[in-house]
Amino acid sequence: MIQRPLFFANWKMNHGPTEARAYMAAFLNFFSPRTDRTVAMFPPALSLSSARDARGDRTDILLGVQNIHTQVKGAFTGENSAPMARDAGATLSLVGHSERRHVFGETNLDAARKLSIAQQFSLTPVLCVGETLDQRELGDAERVVVEQLQIGIDQIESSALASIIIAYEPVWAIGTGRSATPEDASAMHRVIRAMLRQLAGEASDSVPILYGGSVNVKNAESLLRADGVDGLLVGSACLDPEAWAQICRT
Ligand code: PGA
Repeated sequence: MIQRPLFFANWKMNHGPTEARAYMAAFLNFFSPRTDRTVAMFPPALSLSSARDARGDRTDILLGVQNIHTQVKGAFTGENSAPMARDAGATLSLVGHSERRHVFGETNLDAARKLSIAQQFSLTPVLCVGETLDQRELGDAERVVVEQLQIGIDQIESSALASIIIAYEPVWAIGTGRSATPEDASAMHRVIRAMLRQLAGEASDSVPILYGGSVNVKNAESLLRADGVDGLLVGSACLDPEAWAQICRT
């Protein structure tokens, strides 16, 4: 059960299995279980099972995988599939993160396939959308985000739409120290919410929309208070377990 607000930690390519164990132990010390929010960690795939083992009975902390392949198995050297991630402890999967799109060349169609396969294997997909700085400056931000959303969810039934999560992460805000203002975040969250309504009706009101991009201990509260922001997806500021626990208590 996903309880808003949501606090999702994207470790990216940080913390191998040994560090993941130490990180989880430290985090669990700093953060007591709470029923009024959802906290999830997205370790690298190699560290998922050690994060799960270190989590022990603290199943209030969810685990997710950062990326999955579009196929279930086969000759795809270096890739990880949805059922493998599930087996290693994940119940969530990021899909179409900006670094997957812009560093590894993933398309909206790849995201759509991944979203669909994630759902088939009971991984709740977290579809990441967001415009680049150029696109924003050209006044193209809304169109880009709406297109990412439309194509991204195109391969699932509208009834399955209620069980996804969206993360709005403007590319210019990721890892740059320059987060969106609460007003900018709210404006795009409104666009996304309206689009979801149009595609899936009232059932889509349960879909959380997270904000991500240079969230830190200082700005977490104002971003979380922004109208329409249901949670935060955090990269660099989650790498220290104490700072991350502080953000999760916002
Ligand atoms: P950042 O990354 O918090 O370091 O900007 C966020 C993300 O990429 O999900």
